[in-house]
Amino acid sequence: MGKMIEQPRVELSKVAVSETHGENSPYFAGWKAYDENPYDELTNSSGVIQMGLAENQVSFDLLEKYLEEHPEASTLGSGFRENALFQDYHGLKSFRTAMASFMEQIRGGRAKFDPDRVVLTAGATAANELLTFILANPGDALLVPTPYYPGFDRDLRWRTGVNIFPIHCDSSNNFQITPQALEAAYNEAEANNTKVRGVLITNPSNPLGATVQRSILEYLLDFVTEKNIHLVSDEIYSGSVFSSSEFVSVAEILEARQYKEAERVHIVYSLSKDLGLPGFRVGTIYSYNDNVVTTARRMSSFTLISSQTQHLLACMLSDKKFTENYIGTNRERLRKRYQMIIEGLRSVGIECLKGNAGLFCWMNLSPLLEKPNREGELELWNAFLHEVKLNISPGSSCRCSEPGWFRVCFANMSENTLEVALERIRNFMERINKE
Ligand SMILES: Cc1ncc(COP(=O)(O)O)c(C=O)c1O
Repeated sequence: MGKMIEQPRVELSKVAVSETHGENSPYFAGWKAYDENPYDELTNSSGVIQMGLAENQVSFDLLEKYLEEHPEASTLGSGFRENALFQDYHGLKSFRTAMASFMEQIRGGRAKFDPDRVVLTAGATAANELLTFILANPGDALLVPTPYYPGFDRDLRWRTGVNIFPIHCDSSNNFQITPQALEAAYNEAEANNTKVRGVLITNPSNPLGATVQRSILEYLLDFVTEKNIHLVSDEIYSGSVFSSSEFVSVAEILEARQYKEAERVHIVYSLSKDLGLPGFRVGTIYSYNDNVVTTARRMSSFTLISSQTQHLLACMLSDKKFTENYIGTNRERLRKRYQMIIEGLRSVGIECLKGNAGLFCWMNLSPLLEKPNREGELELWNAFLHEVKLNISPGSSCRCSEPGWFRVCFANMSENTLEVALERIRNFMERINKE
């Protein structure tokens, strides 16, 4: 924090001092350990390998090639003045149109998106928070299936004052949502005198790396209709499904139902994962509810995307030749990486949940736990961080109710580094087996 300044005990707001940001969890502690001693193939080969970050670096070459061939996208040229002044919260029409069309393309054209319903936000983080502000009052609840993305504790709860009630899923059915678990979460919130405003799912799921089945989406839609609540579908990994035909978006189901009850459904998307651009901060809320669209647009004033970024991505995403090649190649590279890690782990006796999407796998280390509880899981996590020198995310940081599961990211590094990580796991397993 730089020069020490004496801190008088002056009060801050409840939000400022609240712990609901969740940043004290092992998920973030592992990042700190990595920052202090990061692995580098040449300069720090015994450093910590970061496998806790869902970043996609496998297709940067395609983005760089596009930028080289299309300087008009990154340099504004004669459009400089217009762009420098542009700050309309509707966003550039050209960008909303390109984004809607990209969202259709990654769903294999099976769903339609209207550019006028695309609300732009600075990433999915802002989109999820903004939606929560619109759908729920402080003290109300959203039901979220576990295990879930650790950032939700911050995004959905911290500044909004909204609670998360977990829908507990477990390995007995590959962590899929069941009607019983959904009812149980709803009833628990009610018993706690907490008003449930909606269900928020991630499809394909982070951290499971698996798509949500059509029958479950159908059930969820019927459930939210019966309870008169909302359904938010965070589809941030929809373009990272290894085969497009394995993904069903809630948008497709609404289309098949002729948009009946669609006004309670909202989709969150961002380019952080599928295009590997989290630093660009480009997200969107796609709502079928006119009031939500209007309010979200107004609120997006707090979290706009710079006009320069919009311009660049409008050019890139409206180039169909580029997007088609990018989507196909990126899917194939992710699938290959997934196969590489799954096979590497299997060869040393570690099983993962069968996945079909995303930038990570969900690894089962429960047979290695000395104590079959959260404490045992964190001890193993600690050994991975300090002995094996790998930062992986413990299931408990994703509110998983079953100890021993870990999320392992594979797309934020080179293939060589992934080989090194697998080699380290192999050595660790050999040592454990000997002991
Ligand atoms: C399910 C999910 N939602 C939202 C986010 C946040 O994404 P963004 O970088 O677009 O804010 C992430 C990032 O890891 C995520 O996994």
